[in-house]
Amino acid sequence: MTKVQVRELVFEKFISKEEIDAAVQKVADGINRDYEGKDPLLLAILNGAFIFASDLMRKITIPCEISFVKFASYSGTLTTSKVRELIGVDEELKDRNVIIVEDIVDTGITMDKLLLDVKKKKPASIKVACFCFKPEAFQKDFAIDYVGVIIPNDFIVGYGLDYDGQGRNLPEIYKIVE
Ligand code: IMP
Ligand code: MG
Repeated sequence: MTKVQVRELVFEKFISKEEIDAAVQKVADGINRDYEGKDPLLLAILNGAFIFASDLMRKITIPCEISFVKFASYSGTLTTSKVRELIGVDEELKDRNVIIVEDIVDTGITMDKLLLDVKKKKPASIKVACFCFKPEAFQKDFAIDYVGVIIPNDFIVGYGLDYDGQGRNLPEIYKIVE
């Protein structure tokens, strides 16, 4: 399938299953190397990151734990720059080695807000792992420690990423056809 329709928009194949798998493995390799003996807590951002987080966690071979927060910022294909917190940070993060797991860092506004919230809980360390990163859209200055794939500033769906709630179930990543 090289083209798919999600609602009224047409998307074309962009990142294959094999490329996704290799990108997730690369992130997992970094975490396995850096967190030996540190019992990291993955903090995944719902909804988009649930598929990446579950694949990533199964490639992590050291003891680790997971928890979730739920934030929303997108409306259709545009970021709203207003981040709504739907499920907050409830886990005891004090003295934990936290790895925030996100599907995509676009403007960085969502992650910037979560980083502030997480820092208040006084974790031992915080790092950021994202599946996709759009450097051309990035407006913040936090470090992204683990990146699966760097992509241009195109709207994508699949592998957990949605357009207006749909398209998350596509096993590969598709980008919008202009
Ligand atoms: P940011 O706050 O602008 O960095 O946007 C982050 C959030 O917007 C991500 O968690 C995604 O849910 C969503 N998002 C950003 N870019 C895309 C995209 O290309 N497709 C689908 N969702 C996206
Ligand atoms: Mg998201």
